[in-house]
Amino acid sequence: MHNCRKITNDMYWVGGNDRKIKQFEGSIPLTNGISYNSYFVDDKKTVLLDTVDTAVAQIMFDNLEHLLKGRKLDYVIINHLEPDHSASLADLLRKYPEVKMIGSDKIKAMAKQFISFDIEDRFKQIEEGEILNTGRHDFTFVKAPMVHWPEVMVTYDKTDQIVYSADAFGTFDALSGNMFADEYDFDKEWLPKARLYYSNIVGKYGMFTEILLNKLEEIQPLMICPLHGPIIRKDIDKYIEVYHKWATYTPEVEGVLVIYASVYGNTKDAAEIVAGKLADLCVNDMKVYDVSETDQSIILSDAFKYSHILVASVTHNGDIFVKMESALLDIKAHNLSNRKIAIIENGSWGPTSGDLIRAMFEELPGMTFIDEKITIRSSVKENQLDALHRLAEAISKSVKGTNEQTCQKTEEEKPKEKHVCTVCGYVFEEEKYGKWEDLPDDFICPICKVGKEKFVVK
Ligand code: FEO
Repeated sequence: MHNCRKITNDMYWVGGNDRKIKQFEGSIPLTNGISYNSYFVDDKKTVLLDTVDTAVAQIMFDNLEHLLKGRKLDYVIINHLEPDHSASLADLLRKYPEVKMIGSDKIKAMAKQFISFDIEDRFKQIEEGEILNTGRHDFTFVKAPMVHWPEVMVTYDKTDQIVYSADAFGTFDALSGNMFADEYDFDKEWLPKARLYYSNIVGKYGMFTEILLNKLEEIQPLMICPLHGPIIRKDIDKYIEVYHKWATYTPEVEGVLVIYASVYGNTKDAAEIVAGKLADLCVNDMKVYDVSETDQSIILSDAFKYSHILVASVTHNGDIFVKMESALLDIKAHNLSNRKIAIIENGSWGPTSGDLIRAMFEELPGMTFIDEKITIRSSVKENQLDALHRLAEAISKSVKGTNEQTCQKTEEEKPKEKHVCTVCGYVFEEEKYGKWEDLPDDFICPICKVGKEKFVVK
């Protein structure tokens, strides 16, 4: 049964939604599927722009048949040959023997790799900037290599100022009936799904994405039609702006991503203590993930979002704990840059994870490190709370926009720190002796007479 959606007077969405898919490309868990977008232009010459994954091929063919009303299909423009967009291409060629494939030299070469029968006579190779007139519409073509494969191009309908953007501006999630991005909540719906898609699928190739974005800014399209997710037709600058941030590895948000790997909960304690202190210090935008529980695709996505990353990892087999190593390798593989990194390591007899984590981040451009790493030996001790709090203070000081004025918490709401003597239990009295920070080094406990170093923060 057909279910095509009218987008403009003569352009239709003829794709499909797959809500059964559990993992995209066998590695990225999906919670609400994905859409495969294919578009049909009903002109003097009929045009299909890209095909779909086999999971939704039937609905695309039904849609196409319904719209063609017995006419022949003249062109199929191929912007991207990854099988989620080309798996039904061979069947399309069999079903419509007169259809001409339109694409660049790279598209042609790759199409020959994917299609087992001869396509030489069925392919019309186009050059960048060339015009394909189909009656009312003039289509032109812009190469977009590595967004996300080398053959990728985007098609620009000059007549209606519509860009068919391939994977660029794609999002995860099946479409919930609504076809346009402005029908979804930008911050709660579009942004997280687009960030997850961009970081995992295109994130490695920021430089190439930036080239495409600059071309799009010259073109000034009125509509962007991606191969996944909703169509963008309003506030296009807003979408391009956030894409610029991702493409240039500029943090989207000043805040902290805390990721920890903890076998028995002790490294988790350290991470949670720092996160709690950060909150007390008015760092409001934070995420804390256990790398053994949260998929690395989500960790990668938030690494693209936040300005700071605190990594807390146990040492395992003399190395970084395997799930943390995997998450960090994923971040490294996607070329994340320009972040501020803080590190906590744990090890019962040979803590090595901290130096290994630092070495991994040092290979990425623009990474800076906050304070020395903190080493936990098996579990956090009372006398390490100061060091963990100092780390939180150093992080909070470097998070832009974090200051007492912007803090949501009032002084009364904040838990007051107490300095407690570990020998006799005496609680330091600020009202009697003044601020702890201002005390002379030779201050001694008024009860048991031990030095300042015997006090811990609680
Ligand atoms: Fe949606 Fe690169 O394929």
